[in-house]
Amino acid sequence: MKNNICILKEFKEGIIDQLVNIYYSSFNKFNFRIWSSQDFIDLINNGTNIFYSLSQNKITGFVAVSFNEEFSEIISIAVENDYQRRGIGSNLLNYIINRPDFVGNLIIDVAINNEEGIKFYESFGFKIIGKRKKYYLIKNVKGKIIKVDAHIMQFLLR
Ligand SMILES: CC(C)(COP(=O)(O)OP(=O)(O)OC[C@H]1O[C@@H](n2cnc3c(N)ncnc32)[C@H](O)[C@@H]1OP(=O)(O)O)[C@@H](O)C(=O)NCCC(=O)NCCS
Repeated sequence: MKNNICILKEFKEGIIDQLVNIYYSSFNKFNFRIWSSQDFIDLINNGTNIFYSLSQNKITGFVAVSFNEEFSEIISIAVENDYQRRGIGSNLLNYIINRPDFVGNLIIDVAINNEEGIKFYESFGFKIIGKRKKYYLIKNVKGKIIKVDAHIMQFLLR
């Protein structure tokens, strides 16, 4: 399946609605707070880059990344549930590290209970370099908000 990668530079309601749906479909199972349209608008306004993957006119995934002088940071990456394990997430990461603004050092925070996320980053060569205590807020099975730790993972381009 051919995926083109596009950049979201400004508010486009139709696209942001699809990104919100992708976020919901991929993150809902972890009981994180789900991003709204306003979250995407705030990211665009504060200079975060949003790249999305397009296949036959359908958006299948996205990555939000900030490029800094010393390192780049993935704010989030998500692939719609039905489209996972087809290389779309890897394609988005490869796109980032081939950007001219990428300085060779990529950081991500990932909840310690997000095993698939951790495996995904490990498959790409990310290593765990630290921990953030009680970093993410999630709802437990009883609906109570609890805090979970996050691994800090790093990818270094050799
Ligand atoms: C993590 C995520 C973005 C990966 O996207 P994807 O398009 O499915 O990933 P890819 O197809 O490129 O997978 C590349 C490799 O990562 C690993 N991987 C990906 N998903 C995995 C899973 N659920 N279980 C185990 N390994 C997995 C595998 O090694 C895979 O290679 P393989 O399919 O040849 O075995 C996607 O699963 C997702 O949206 N998850 C929910 C949101 C999330 O956890 N985001 C990351 C935290 S910010």
